[in-house]
Amino acid sequence: MRRPIIVGNWKMHKTTAEAVALVNALRASVTQVQDVDIGVAPPFTALMAVAEALRGSRLFVVAQNMHWEPQGAFTGEISAAMLTGIGCTRVIIGHSERRQYFAETDATVNKKLRAALNAQLDPLLCIGETLDQREGNATFSVLEQQVRHGLADIAAESMARVVIAYEPIWAIGTGKTATPTQAQEVHAFIRSLLGELYGKALADEVRIQYGGSVNAGNIQTLMTQPDVDGALVGGASLEASSFAQIVSFQRG
Ligand code: PGA
Repeated sequence: MRRPIIVGNWKMHKTTAEAVALVNALRASVTQVQDVDIGVAPPFTALMAVAEALRGSRLFVVAQNMHWEPQGAFTGEISAAMLTGIGCTRVIIGHSERRQYFAETDATVNKKLRAALNAQLDPLLCIGETLDQREGNATFSVLEQQVRHGLADIAAESMARVVIAYEPIWAIGTGKTATPTQAQEVHAFIRSLLGELYGKALADEVRIQYGGSVNAGNIQTLMTQPDVDGALVGGASLEASSFAQIVSFQRG
């Protein structure tokens, strides 16, 4: 059985002091939640303080991005080793905002994914279609391309460490969540594609999160879908109470 994984993506929100206050409140309110993997992805500046505040807890610390080179003349960039060195265990790669505003491509996403895996940092690979692509019936072909190219040359041994986050771009920050049926349809498609690439047994192990306007009101029905294994949560992860309610969803 796949263990649910829910991660809060804080994007460009929270100073270090605000971040520590948030995780302190969060840590206190999720002590009862035993059967969900819970992570937070603060901005780079707060990672170290958040890792410190979460020491000894089950919550893990996720970076929102990284560079693929281990070091070098790349002003403004952060390497995988810099992240593991301060207690990050996972990294978000290829978020649609990175693809849209910072020119990330499937090729750079793939380089980052390989660099993360080599550095013992477990990646969350984000994929998703735009509204135009969905309305033009291109959802599956777009996702297939993102999965095949994003995972190029990723060996089966490493694949078990990758989490895929399906985030339809039209649902991010818009209040328009995919319906549970829409999410399930896409998640099942992704899993069958993983089956083609890695075999069914491994595909059945990989966790696929849904992201895009997840909140305390919709998490439960999303999580009842057989191929939805968790969530990547933006806006609703910025308050301890709403994120705590999300990770405490009751399984149907
Ligand atoms: P949202 O963001 O929950 O605010 O829609 C999700 C994401 O971009 O990861």
